[in-house]
Amino acid sequence: MDYAATGEAALARIGAAQELDALEALRVEFLGKQGSISGLLKTLGGMSPEERQTVGPQIHALRESVTAALAERKEALESAVLNARLAAETVDLTLPAPAAPRGSIHPVSQVLDELAEIFADLGFAVATGPEIEDDWHNFTALNIPESHPARAMHDTFYFPDCDTAGRKMLLRTHTSPVQIRSMLQHGAPIRIIAPGRVYRSDSDATHTPMFHQVEGLVIDKGITLGHLKWTLETFLKAFFEREDIVLRLRPSYFPFTEPSVEVDVGFALVNGKRVLGGSGDEPGHGWMELLGSGMVNRKVIAAGGLDPDEWQGFAFGVGVDRLAMLKYGMDDLRAFFDGDARWLGHYGFSALDVPTLSVGVGARA
Ligand code: DAH
Repeated sequence: MDYAATGEAALARIGAAQELDALEALRVEFLGKQGSISGLLKTLGGMSPEERQTVGPQIHALRESVTAALAERKEALESAVLNARLAAETVDLTLPAPAAPRGSIHPVSQVLDELAEIFADLGFAVATGPEIEDDWHNFTALNIPESHPARAMHDTFYFPDCDTAGRKMLLRTHTSPVQIRSMLQHGAPIRIIAPGRVYRSDSDATHTPMFHQVEGLVIDKGITLGHLKWTLETFLKAFFEREDIVLRLRPSYFPFTEPSVEVDVGFALVNGKRVLGGSGDEPGHGWMELLGSGMVNRKVIAAGGLDPDEWQGFAFGVGVDRLAMLKYGMDDLRAFFDGDARWLGHYGFSALDVPTLSVGVGARA
């Protein structure tokens, strides 16, 4: 038998295989259990020692060259397959965006981006804190001691267990605990906003068990109510994109601020709808309660590890969902969290529409 010729024929067929399947069929044909070369190897057993000595190396050489050829061809075919796939899956980055992009930005996300943009321009950083809080950060450090009625007013979701320090664990009822965490972590001076989710066991058309707030905190030397008023006015004018936003500060009470002020914003009734702008005292106008604020209570500054004789500050807290409803005209808060794609399709924002101050932070058509 001419092993060299058998080998050449096998290598030619392997070299001509165009598909991985065809190559695998050849491997079985030559080297499989019933394969022709496997068969040749079996004949060695029946040979005389002398014959085996001359023929054996030839058959082994044949098997080795076929094995090597199969491996080489397999690699070539595999890289050809990969190259074809890479060529077919090329993305042309110069193509325009699809005419009808799917998906949109939730109004809450949009408003959070707008807030970050506006306050960044005023030199505020964005701070965050945990949604699972302990009652010290959420209440005690904010001058709401154990027996304080404000604890009951907050409709708190408590966890059954305490943390390792023995503190009751809860879902934060407001973003105010981030005030404490920021002071303890970074010291003073501070200029932050702290946006995020908060939780209360309450549910109707204007209350959902989870909603969003943004907290503001400025700690520095010589801070006064004047700074608070200017900051809120500047923020609300930029947010509602109207120069005629008028604020009214009313004395109020929050345990964590002293003095405390409730901030109302003037609106006009237009076709039965409240449109922000102008003084609420004009005929056909009114005042709408918008946010809580005040000068940070000395006890809160001390709980934050700072000396209240050295540092003063102001704080405010406002509902983000409410800001979105007022600006973009939604009237049922529950729809925000229904996950209804039709609602999002109507009220959602384009992912490409990044809020910037230079053109007004709101969405453009
Ligand atoms: N934490 C208050 C709430 O959830 C809102 C608030 C009021 C925050 C006054 C403040 C503030 O920082 O000064 O009802």
